[in-house]
Amino acid sequence: MSLQEEIARRRTFAIISHPDAGKTTLTEKFLLYGGAIQTAGAVKSNKIRRGATSDFMEIERQRGISVTTSVMTFPYKDRLLNLLDTPGHKDFAEDTYRTLTAVDSVVLVVDCVKGVEAQTERLMEVCRMRHTPVMIFINKMDLEGRDAFDLLDELEQKLAIHVRPLSWPIGIGATFKGVYDLYRGGLRLFEAGKTKVEHSQVAVSDLGDPVLANTIGADAAAKLREDVELVQGVYDPFDVAAYHSGLLAPVFFGSAFNNFGVKELLETFAELAPQPGPRPTDHGEVRPDEPAFSGFVFKIHANLDPNHRDRIAFLRVCSGRFQRNTFYHHVRLSRPLRFANPTTFLAANKTLVEEAWPGDVVGLFDTGNFKIGDTLTEGANFFFRGMPTFSPEIFRELVNNDPMKSKQLEKGIRQLTDEGVAQLFTQVVGSKKVVGTVGELQFDVIRYRLEHEYNAACSFAPLNLHKACWLTSEDKEALDRFIRAKTTQIVYDKDGAPVYMAPSAYMLDLERRENPAITFHTTSEFKLSTVAAT
Ligand code: G4P
Repeated sequence: MSLQEEIARRRTFAIISHPDAGKTTLTEKFLLYGGAIQTAGAVKSNKIRRGATSDFMEIERQRGISVTTSVMTFPYKDRLLNLLDTPGHKDFAEDTYRTLTAVDSVVLVVDCVKGVEAQTERLMEVCRMRHTPVMIFINKMDLEGRDAFDLLDELEQKLAIHVRPLSWPIGIGATFKGVYDLYRGGLRLFEAGKTKVEHSQVAVSDLGDPVLANTIGADAAAKLREDVELVQGVYDPFDVAAYHSGLLAPVFFGSAFNNFGVKELLETFAELAPQPGPRPTDHGEVRPDEPAFSGFVFKIHANLDPNHRDRIAFLRVCSGRFQRNTFYHHVRLSRPLRFANPTTFLAANKTLVEEAWPGDVVGLFDTGNFKIGDTLTEGANFFFRGMPTFSPEIFRELVNNDPMKSKQLEKGIRQLTDEGVAQLFTQVVGSKKVVGTVGELQFDVIRYRLEHEYNAACSFAPLNLHKACWLTSEDKEALDRFIRAKTTQIVYDKDGAPVYMAPSAYMLDLERRENPAITFHTTSEFKLSTVAAT
């Protein structure tokens, strides 16, 4: 197959949702259809359960599961789907954001009872920033959920995206009878409890077909006709280009648990979702069909065995063909690297890959050469953009509890933050180390892993900080002046970029007003081009 044909076959995506909306259940049903797993229950939930076991044990359990399900590759009809897993817990939101940089589209699962929840909004923000195409699955239609029109309104308002239903529910909860396929026509009838077998499909020529009333009853048929008329009146016709630009989200209704509406979703997804496209770099766009290989690392997974310090770096191929045992150029280190054992992940089986194509993800064994965001090429010097670091939400000072193990602590914290577990900032005065995360759980992870993998003991002292703001300015003197005046609040990130630790929203606002020559960034996206140049 040619490079173009390989690209045209591939669909690389993630399923995202607020916890409990049904991401794991839907993933499993997709894998069953794709033949990647044979039995229900094969996909373990990567949720962190609080309770019986202590948090870090749960994290270890979750880490063990998540490496095997990191990338699930399965064929569906003439397509090859790469489904990238995202962690379920909100404290690992940053991992999810990074994974979203490696996909070409997403399927968003929304619970019809709960509607749009907090994490759905945040995930959508990241998708909007990157214009990622989104397909929405409204799940749990077998439960007494909200009215379909209300749900669609809420999606539009809270997620700031246009929607277009491609299927329409008939009833909900106890009265849920099935869906009418607005995209292909036809009626699919719901039978509760049918988790594996196909639900019956009834051919109806159009909504006036008497078969409709005979099948679902006259009242339900009349209501469906009314609803569909309203849908056609309110929503513009489905436009694939608008979907591909991330402006319009097609919506499906169903029940993942009952395997209802899943096949329609998967079929439409495989047909409509975008193939791997061009990717922005600091030197312009790279097209997938460019013959020279390029890719970037979006995730690093440490070995679970503390005696083996090696890690797996997940590389998304962006252009050309990746080949085993071939030297590639590590742009940041300016060094050639070769990979003898690159792996792919097919559900639970790791397999050696000889070659990979744009849209694919390969696992590279790493002994410490990679950081999140690193680019590999065939020799060209550019960096893929779009791997933002967000300001952490929680800040703690790292305290060394064993002065004899300072070196281990230093090395451990550097490696863990390279993996993206947390962000590390250093204060020049007193070389205080500040660790920033998006959730409390990461501090448990760091403490546990430092102890078990690096033999170092640490604790964390609370710091009352609001946000980390990367600083830039055209006016170098103004920036230097600000840094000098605020020594105790200035820290440096791992690349040496100055960061202002705002103690409160009020102070940040004040400093912004008083220092108009300085830009205070709460994401580090702006840095990529400058880092590449140095
Ligand atoms: P997540 O990965 O998004 O966190 O959600 P997950 O698939 O684990 O689903 C959360 C819960 O919702 C599970 O129940 C699951 O069985 C249920 N669920 C998923 N889809 C549907 C659906 O279409 N209808 C109904 N009624 N329930 C659904 P649980 O009791 O928390 O877990 P489990 O014991 O069933 O694994």
